[in-house]
Amino acid sequence: MILCANFKANKTRQETRAYMAVVESFVSVNEIDDTVIVFPPFTALEHLPRNVLIGVQNAYPVENGAYTGEIALEQLEEFEVKTILIGHSERRHILGETQEQIAAKFRFFAEKGFAIIYCVGEPIEIRQQGADALMRYVDAQFVGIDCNYTDLILAYEPVWAIGTGLTPTSDQIVDMHAVLRTKTHAPLLYGGSVKVDNAGSIMALENVDGVLVGSASLSANDFCEMIALAAQLKNV
Ligand code: PGA
Repeated sequence: MILCANFKANKTRQETRAYMAVVESFVSVNEIDDTVIVFPPFTALEHLPRNVLIGVQNAYPVENGAYTGEIALEQLEEFEVKTILIGHSERRHILGETQEQIAAKFRFFAEKGFAIIYCVGEPIEIRQQGADALMRYVDAQFVGIDCNYTDLILAYEPVWAIGTGLTPTSDQIVDMHAVLRTKTHAPLLYGGSVKVDNAGSIMALENVDGVLVGSASLSANDFCEMIALAAQLKNV
């Protein structure tokens, strides 16, 4: 399983340090061999040996240059970050990233050998329009994206489930993941209101290879509980 904690614009550097201490110790004491990836804010990046992966929530697809307010490859290299989230719905909908910009980002970081967690997912009004509209919408999020990229992890995150406490039914997750499975051999994550209570049953679904967790990952103990649930799944 793959378990990702997306902090978004939460936690200070100090808070992230305390959090990482808890998660790293949990992973080591319990000899966890699932993949754990934490996405802190840029300000909390540190160059330290770790037993979990650290990724960034975004970056600008250039080596460096005149891009005010952005972080580029050169700054990530300083921290040896090689993992990035691309296409998250908050960047698509709040920051206004277009599919073209997202695809350019994907190409750049793929060329640099990054592990890419690529997010797709539909707003509620699209789902309400039925299966054809849903698939057209999701298909459009694959324009310019290389589904055969070796270091790809694909995350299905319905926009209406993110930060809302709403989750799709198991059938809705299984159906979408079956479609995504026809597009790629990459691991498939589910994201959107995953918490301790539902993480185990979601991870047990067909074609679900892990979870991308926002709000509920902000508690180190909750995130560790989800890591434990993933480890238990292997033993059933
Ligand atoms: P959530 O966010 O767990 O708070 O719904 C998930 C995400 O945005 O990746």
